[in-house]
Amino acid sequence: MQPEFIIIHQQVAPFVAHIQLNRPKELNALNLQLMGELRDALKLLDADDTVRVIVLSGNEKAFAAGADIKQMAGKSAMDMYNTDQFSTWDAIKKIKKPIIAAVSGFALGGGCELMMLCDMIVASETARFGQPEIKLGVMPGAGGTQRLTRAVGKALAMEMVLTGRFITAAEALQAGLINRVVPEELFLQEAIKLAATTAAMSPIALKMAKEAVLKTFDTSLEEGLHFERKNFYLLFASEDQKEGMQAFIDKRAPEFKGK
Ligand code: HXC
Repeated sequence: MQPEFIIIHQQVAPFVAHIQLNRPKELNALNLQLMGELRDALKLLDADDTVRVIVLSGNEKAFAAGADIKQMAGKSAMDMYNTDQFSTWDAIKKIKKPIIAAVSGFALGGGCELMMLCDMIVASETARFGQPEIKLGVMPGAGGTQRLTRAVGKALAMEMVLTGRFITAAEALQAGLINRVVPEELFLQEAIKLAATTAAMSPIALKMAKEAVLKTFDTSLEEGLHFERKNFYLLFASEDQKEGMQAFIDKRAPEFKGK
């Protein structure tokens, strides 16, 4: 069945797919159906050998203005518990291929949290980031208190979470939340360019390197170094390692096959 709230664009560059969140009238508010469609699309692309890197965007006005407040407003704690919406988020966290967020306009609440589940972030000058849940009488629930704090540090994270203040793209760049800022008309193009550069690498090495970087967030340095070393050794079982090193010696570009 065709998804209703996302659009999938295949091969926007070699080995790059693009998923666009598409509820423009609601500023891409993340209702349960949209999140389910996004999870399904990401899982399909994760298993597709013609895709090595995924770009996730909204539109110029909004990446996503958060979880759908109208869908949540009347729910009880037990409704929320039984809905178990975070199983979708857990599945997205398990995507092995790099995901690059292309952000313009609002990235708020669950939108900012979804963006922080991505591996690199390209933003337009008009991007605004925030965790405004506190203004609704709640708090972030999909990583906003954890990933934001790890990215920008306690001082700014506390301010954003406790006051709901939005930060600009320039502030987000300075705080280390995002990778780069470009004029609005270039944000998607620049994200696809970054995706294409990434997609030229060995897809197995990309997955293992992503896994190792993310390991930082839930382990000690000793454990993390051990994990890194295992993945490093394991890559010597791939044809891509032989190809990559031989290509260097032959002074030619490598042709990675993902084997
Ligand atoms: C449902 C939303 C929405 C949201 C915007 N809309 N955000 N609907 N859920 N999160 C709808 C509005 O109701 C409106 O619909 C339309 O989108 C346009 O929004 P406006 O408010 O008219 O636009 P504007 O004046 O430009 O203001 C933009 C805005 C504001 C500053 C982004 O919409 C806003 O504050 N939105 C809520 C942001 C937020 O609190 N996010 C956190 C949600 S909680 P109508 O039909 O009226 O035209 C959350 C928890 C995550 O994310 C937990 C884990 C999943």
